[in-house]
Amino acid sequence: MADLGLIVLAAGKGTRMRSSLPKVMHQAAGRSLLGHVLTTAVDLAPARLVVVAGPDMPEVADESRKYFEQAQTVIQAERHGTAHAVSMAAPYLADFTGKLLVLYGDVPLISPAILRDLTEAVTAEHPLAVLAFRATDPTGYGRLIVGRDGTFSGIREELDATPEERAINLCNSGVMAADSGLLWRLLPRIGNDNAKREFYLTDLAGLVAGEGFDLAFRECPETEVLGVNNRVQLAAIETAFQQRLRQAAMLNGATLVAPETVFLSADTELGQDVIVEPNVVFGAGVKVADRAWIRSFSYLERSTVGEAAIVGPFARLRPGVALERDVHIGNFVEIKQAVVERGAKINHLAYVGDARVGATANIGAGAITCNYNGVEKSLTEIGAGAFIGTNASLVAPVRVGEGAYVAAGSVVTKDVDPDALYIERGESKIRTNWAKRYLAGLRARKAAGASPPSK
Ligand code: UD1
Ligand code: MG
Repeated sequence: MADLGLIVLAAGKGTRMRSSLPKVMHQAAGRSLLGHVLTTAVDLAPARLVVVAGPDMPEVADESRKYFEQAQTVIQAERHGTAHAVSMAAPYLADFTGKLLVLYGDVPLISPAILRDLTEAVTAEHPLAVLAFRATDPTGYGRLIVGRDGTFSGIREELDATPEERAINLCNSGVMAADSGLLWRLLPRIGNDNAKREFYLTDLAGLVAGEGFDLAFRECPETEVLGVNNRVQLAAIETAFQQRLRQAAMLNGATLVAPETVFLSADTELGQDVIVEPNVVFGAGVKVADRAWIRSFSYLERSTVGEAAIVGPFARLRPGVALERDVHIGNFVEIKQAVVERGAKINHLAYVGDARVGATANIGAGAITCNYNGVEKSLTEIGAGAFIGTNASLVAPVRVGEGAYVAAGSVVTKDVDPDALYIERGESKIRTNWAKRYLAGLRARKAAGASPPSK
């Protein structure tokens, strides 16, 4: 929408979070609260977007640009209320003509459809539209004053409301859309003669009505406009996101055997006929292709899983992993920053980091890439069809050629030619009957009452 500008209020310190992190930077479903709001906001294709942050929130500007490159961040040095916060955005929006939509950075569940509907409610006849909801407990919210004839005439804050007004359960969500010209014209007229001595954006409603305009409001379910003030509410928001994401994944063709035990991120992509067993966690940035099978107790982040690949049970994919099709990753395998080419198998107890594993290669149980020397990381390259024996240590940087064979227990410090054998072991010795004689000697000594040898 070329005629839409957005203002996201995010200057709240979030004292009740008891955190060194700004409230809007706390995460739900692998994404910051601000990131959720901006993802929704950007869906409306705004022409401009301004985030109002508080002082000491250096993270907010970078986070905003991640979702909207041209996002501007302004600092509200002192909090004097929501109208004051909106006025901070004026330098970036005063010359803008169209509709302005005000959002809160700590109200992350809101959907684009509701915002679109609210924005469309702003017309020449209704230059201001407020998003309202029926609160199960209206305490603390601003109430919409709507007459018997349905005329919406203003918003009253809880602290300034009469007992009759407090009985109203139609509440202000805080989300509001208005004609830009009208907003900038009336905003300076808002005063702070109220219980909190703050400049209330909600007073705009009364001012617009006072100009003889009709006000519009739209109702949405309370669940869409839940905010976050403390970590209990953050957990409730997480639950709500998980429910949505699981449902979307299933409707999109993935089987979640026990959906309530699978944790997804907002950007998790599961293809068709993917099966996810119980107790799997998808951190941010995971894409799983069609027909892959993610088995129980696996943890994946910033990785891709190819078609029909199998991961787990008990597998861990750390950032930077690309599994190609038909790869098998088994139990107690950790992989980091590695490409595993099609059909390769790493089935048990292995660590593969900073590596390329060629197609159909087989990595044995207990094999480890020694990718870190205490200072720097190095690459291990394993050719297609290579066989890495049990308990081998591959000391990077090192290459194992195509079709090569590394014998069990070897410490590989030199490159291995294609099709060659690499074996490194001490000489094997077998002493016939040695154990039997040794143990008999020990038992005889014990029977004679000798004290054990001192250490
Ligand atoms: C506000 C509304 C109230 C509504 C409620 C919904 C006003 C006066 N009241 O009340 O009608 O029912 O939200 O949750 O608008 N903020 C700033 N700078 C400020 C003040 C606030 O950026 O100076 C931001 C906060 O970070 C927050 C949002 O604006 O994201 C709302 O502020 P808050 O103090 O929570 O307002 P409420 O009193 O809850
Ligand atoms: Mg609030």
